Amino acid sequence: MLSFSAWYQDFLPWFNNELGNIILPDEPAALYEPVRHALAGRGKRLRPALCCAVAESCGLSRDKMLPGALALELVHNFSLVHDDIMDNDDMRHGLPSVVAKWDANTAIIAGDTLFALAFRFMGMMTGEPFSKLYSEFTRQIMAMCEGQIYDMSFENRTEISTFEYLKMVEQKTGALLSGSATIGAYAAGLAEDEVSAIRKYFIRIGRIFQIQDDLLELTSNPENMGKSLGSDVSAAKKTYPMLLAWQRANDAEKMAIRRIIDSFNVDESALERLRELFEQLRVWKQVTSDIQNERDEALRDIRTLTGELRDTLITFTEFILDRKR
Ligand code: IPE
Ligand code: IPE
Ligand code: MG
Ligand code: MG
Repeated sequence: MLSFSAWYQDFLPWFNNELGNIILPDEPAALYEPVRHALAGRGKRLRPALCCAVAESCGLSRDKMLPGALALELVHNFSLVHDDIMDNDDMRHGLPSVVAKWDANTAIIAGDTLFALAFRFMGMMTGEPFSKLYSEFTRQIMAMCEGQIYDMSFENRTEISTFEYLKMVEQKTGALLSGSATIGAYAAGLAEDEVSAIRKYFIRIGRIFQIQDDLLELTSNPENMGKSLGSDVSAAKKTYPMLLAWQRANDAEKMAIRRIIDSFNVDESALERLRELFEQLRVWKQVTSDIQNERDEALRDIRTLTGELRDTLITFTEFILDRKR
C-alpha cells in the first residue's frame, strides 16, 4: 500500500459493489425499502476501508475481511438512521434521511434491522481470532451508544468542559473507528501489544475526526456534505468550536451566541454571524492548533509499530485531515 488515499480509490467501488450485493427480502417492502435506502447514499465507507486497509497491511486479503467490513458499515448506518431521529435531521448521504422520507417509527425498525444484519455478517468471520473480533465489536458499539447519550445530555447543559467533550467524542465517534482498525488487526492475527497501540492511536484520531465534523458543520454546505447542517446550532449542541467560544466569550458575546441558537430559523446568515463571532474569539485558530497537537501525539502513539501498517495509519490520518466532507 503506497498511501491510504490511493488505495481507497480502488477500494471504494469494490466495497460499494459488495454492499449493493447484500441479498435482502423484498417483503415487507415497508421495512426493506427504507433499509435499502439507508445503504444507497454516498457514504464514505471509512470504517470498512480502515478495517480492510489494516488487515491488508498485515497480510490478510480484503476478500477474507469482507464480512467484518460489511458488519462495520451496517452498524455505522444503523447508528446514523437512529441519529437522524435524535438530531431531527432530514438529509443523509445526499438523500432524504429515513426519518424524513418515512417516519420515526419506520426509522427505528429499519435501524434495528441494519443492526441485526451487522451481527449476521460479523458472525460469518471465521478462524481463531473470532471471539476477539466479536468482543471488540460489541464493546465499541456499546461505547458508541454511551457517547450518543452524553451528546444528548449536553444539549440541556450550558457549561461543558473540554474534558467532558473529548470523552463524549472518543465514544460516539472514536469507538467505532478504533474498533474498525482493531478488528482488522485481530483478524490478521496481530499481537495484543500492537493492537493496543492502534487502539490508543484511534482515541486521538476519533477526536480529530469529530472536531473536524463539528468544524465542517459550521463551514461547509449541505450539498457538499450530503447531510443537513445547522441542526447542531439550533439544538444547542456542544460542538468543539461552540465549547471554545463559550469558554472565551464575555457576557455580551454569550448573549449574542444565545440569540443565534434561539433564533427560530438558523439560516445561512445566522451561521455567518456565528462564524464572525468565532473569528473574533479566535476559536478557529485554537481549533486548528488543537487538531495539529492531537495529530502529533497520535503519531507518537504508533512509533513502536513498523512497516506497512504504520504507513497505512499515517496516511489514513493525512487523508482524514484533508477531508472536505
Ligand atoms: C459521520 O461519520 C458520523 C460521525 C460519527 C461523525 P462519517 O462522516 O464517517 O459518515 P459517512 O461517511 O457520511 O457515512
Ligand atoms: C453521529 O454524530 C454519531 C453517531 C451516529 C454515533 P453526529 O450527530 O455529530 O453526526 P452527524 O453530523 O449527524 O453526521
Ligand atoms: Mg448526533
Ligand atoms: Mg447527527
